Amino acid sequence: MKISCGTDIIEIERIKNSIGKYEEKFKTNIYTEAEVKYCESHKDQKFQHYAVRFAAKEAIFKAISRRISENYSWTDFEVINNKEGKPEVVLKEEIPEIESIDISLSHCKEYATAMVVVLFKE
Ligand SMILES: CC(C)(COP(=O)(O)OP(=O)(O)OC[C@H]1O[C@@H](n2cnc3c(N)ncnc32)[C@H](O)[C@@H]1OP(=O)(O)O)[C@@H](O)C(=O)NCCC(=O)NCCS
Repeated sequence: MKISCGTDIIEIERIKNSIGKYEEKFKTNIYTEAEVKYCESHKDQKFQHYAVRFAAKEAIFKAISRRISENYSWTDFEVINNKEGKPEVVLKEEIPEIESIDISLSHCKEYATAMVVVLFKE
């Protein structure tokens, strides 16, 4: 079975500036409703959560290759936390080539980073 990984790191300030400049347009292009709700619930640190989800989606795009990713948009991949807080990737619709995706996120004051592992179907 083929596996592929993807990673990304981003300056939180960059996402904060984009949200400040483009507000709703940026949010609706990049994030699902559930992601916005999660990020906004963190108030003071919301930009860390927005930034890490941006990094997560970039990491997913890297892992699944351009050939597949060009058929999907940012909001087709939702990053949502389970009961223990572990993030999971929920696909808006099944991607035929993909068996499963695992993800790990981390953020500090200035940077957010994501690491993704994709398992492909044979
Ligand atoms: C889970 C834990 C290790 C996260 O440590 P942290 O330094 O605060 O995390 P970071 O700032 O590097 O990263 C935050 C991200 O960790 C992820 N995360 C949170 N809980 C998680 C968990 N249980 N498992 C995996 N990832 C988790 C989230 O994606 C979070 O970002 P998000 O809220 O924007 O989605 C910490 O909360 C902890 O030690 N909790 C108690 C023990 C525990 O629950 N352990 C579970 C794993 S053994």
